[in-house]
Amino acid sequence: MDENLLVGRETNDDAGVYRINEELAIINTTDYFTPIVDDPYSFGAIAATNALSDVYSMGGTPKTALNIVCWNNDELELSVLAEILNGGADKVKQANAVVAGGHTVTGPEILYGLALTGTVHPERVIQNCTAQPGDLLILTKKIGIGILTTGLKFDCVDEHILPIAIESMTRLNKNASEIMLEHRVTSCTDITGYGLLGHAEEMATGSGVVIDIFSQEVPYFDLVPELVGQGISTRAGSANQEFLKDKVSFAKNIDVTLKQILLEAETSGGLLFSLPEDEVDVALDKLKQADCPEAAVVGQVKEFSSNGTSNVINVL
Ligand code: CO
Ligand code: CO
Repeated sequence: MDENLLVGRETNDDAGVYRINEELAIINTTDYFTPIVDDPYSFGAIAATNALSDVYSMGGTPKTALNIVCWNNDELELSVLAEILNGGADKVKQANAVVAGGHTVTGPEILYGLALTGTVHPERVIQNCTAQPGDLLILTKKIGIGILTTGLKFDCVDEHILPIAIESMTRLNKNASEIMLEHRVTSCTDITGYGLLGHAEEMATGSGVVIDIFSQEVPYFDLVPELVGQGISTRAGSANQEFLKDKVSFAKNIDVTLKQILLEAETSGGLLFSLPEDEVDVALDKLKQADCPEAAVVGQVKEFSSNGTSNVINVL
């Protein structure tokens, strides 16, 4: 126990936060994964954007990054690694942060990501467990990335979709974070492996509230329902479904395709944040004028009432 550890592991938040003094806290987070696209530069940029997202979701400013690499020399040239690192470094630079070093091990599988240090004012840390009843929830990027990238892997998707998916995954949540901080944001997380409903569940459980999700308002890529219809799913999607089965209730009119889309794993998704209803219109306008044209109000926070169920998410 350390009283300066403002955010630790207890609330499944996006990053750890440690107070240095009354005006300064540091944010620590790491994320890395296996290649999800063939182009090494794009893979590096996606992995870095995804890792940086956990600093932005805490309301922080990224400062330094360390590369984390597992490399297989028998299978790939080192020039490919250089491309991955270039992709990552360009995103770190765009975030106004700097690559300070890193560590590489060799192994059978290729892995790349970042360990990050960011800064935040100790009283301006945005946690994922402080949503307030009455707040509305804004989502800043489309979902369906997991389905799209899996579809691309199995050649079920026309190649012209690839740049669209890469644009979304490499779009920093920097502007979205800055905009939410201009408002009385109460809670935030970013949408990654647990999917929209999984991350909303963490927010609801941590905050002791119930979250209604307006399923008809959730933005997703056009092609996604068709891919789901062809049987495309992510590996993590079924784990999410299993984990959430006693925590999410779906209104009767919601079809299986939409259910699956909401449960699927995402990579480098947008921010999901809660703020008072009277600030939503202005915040949404700013997001749309910045680099989040698809931002939408996707839910509302409600008082928790123990009605004999363990549901904390109602999908309407
Ligand atoms: Co996160
Ligand atoms: Co993370």
